[in-house]
Amino acid sequence: MLRQLIYRSRATTPMTDEDIRKIVDDSLPFNTAHDITGLLLFDGEFFFQVLEGASDSILLLFEHLKSDARHTNIIKVLDTTIRQREFGKWSLKPFVFNHHNNCYWLPSGLKIRRDSRAFFLLNSFATGQWRNCVSAEYRSKLKRTLFIEERVVDAFPNSEIQFAFQPIVDIKNGVISSLEALLRTPDGAFPDVFLSSLSESERYVFDLKSKAVAIAQGAKLLKPGQALSVNLLPGAITHTSNVAEQLIRYLEAVKLAPEQLIVEVTESEMVKESDAFYTAVDSLRSSGIRLALDDFGAGYAGLSLLADFMPDKIKLDRAITRGIHENGPRQAILQAVFEFANATGSHLIVEGVESFEEWLWLYNVGVQKFQGFLFAKPKLNGVNAINFDTSAFSSTEENDL
Ligand SMILES: Cc1cc2nc3c(=O)[nH]c(=O)nc-3n(C[C@H](O)[C@H](O)[C@H](O)COP(=O)(O)O)c2cc1C
Repeated sequence: MLRQLIYRSRATTPMTDEDIRKIVDDSLPFNTAHDITGLLLFDGEFFFQVLEGASDSILLLFEHLKSDARHTNIIKVLDTTIRQREFGKWSLKPFVFNHHNNCYWLPSGLKIRRDSRAFFLLNSFATGQWRNCVSAEYRSKLKRTLFIEERVVDAFPNSEIQFAFQPIVDIKNGVISSLEALLRTPDGAFPDVFLSSLSESERYVFDLKSKAVAIAQGAKLLKPGQALSVNLLPGAITHTSNVAEQLIRYLEAVKLAPEQLIVEVTESEMVKESDAFYTAVDSLRSSGIRLALDDFGAGYAGLSLLADFMPDKIKLDRAITRGIHENGPRQAILQAVFEFANATGSHLIVEGVESFEEWLWLYNVGVQKFQGFLFAKPKLNGVNAINFDTSAFSSTEENDL
């Protein structure tokens, strides 16, 4: 099967025409032997390469390319199956792009369809739309730390359920901004067996009632200025007519203010955008409780929900965060959601941040709030310690320059 892989990367050192020529000369034997064709564009700082050929050969080459010290910030823009080569018999002919006037010339011998995706991507590279990678200077100068001690509470008495808590961190300000309460069995597992034994209506009633435990336990863990996030199924919001009143009662019982509670509407279930849903949302809002749209990008929420629900917080699902530092499509989604959040005054929280490289890319483009194993895993009846120090990561990473 034919594969087309397009990536972009940044040169680690200034490149002369001779350096580019050498890359091409070094490449030709392998590319010819494996029938790999494509092109390489260089704009004085960034590379853009299209590789076309048999799937195995392309993947083999890409593994070599990723460890080549001449470039860094290697980001896959497109990796797809194609019917026929878009770059014909071209075998890595380089174009040097004139970055002073954003111009490049497609040689007349290259017969690329102007409506092809590769041509579109070529042009957007040329207009410099992708210059959002982490520079070596940014990486070396970045100094951020967050050290927080572990906190624990006693298990909630006589309860079949408990909660684990995971922090949402704001690294720019060096604080935990909120804690998310996650439903657990007393031995720390997700209670899927118990939940599936309930009827739909019982599940909704239980979902809301369980928040009494989450709020009581959360209140003991919160520090001043922090908020507590709890999840509610959309069905649980509409099933009870007085959701806001009930939550306010739970809050009052432990002397928490409504503003300290964030209700995360989980997307694990279809949100029926009914009058009842928006009435409940209005009453939650007017009571001072804030709202978040959870798992955005992986569940059922469409863009119309985003527009009508207008959450105070948008939590971008880990499905988008995973490997974002080397994935062009995910980066494009993140930036579009981030722009939406900024345009509507919603806070973006990025979930599922597990590696330093993912975090660094996100932080570099301006994301401020993060949740993920990189900082702390959820802890049953408590919050894990956070030991985050960017210098510890930077020193072990390969130096870019
Ligand atoms: C921007 C850039 C593009 C490259 N393109 C190719 C290529 O198309 N084919 C190739 O064999 N090597 C290419 N190389 C060189 C490979 O990264 C690598 O040096 C070569 O495959 C030898 O790999 P090895 O040193 O792991 O054996 C390129 C290098 C750079 C920096």
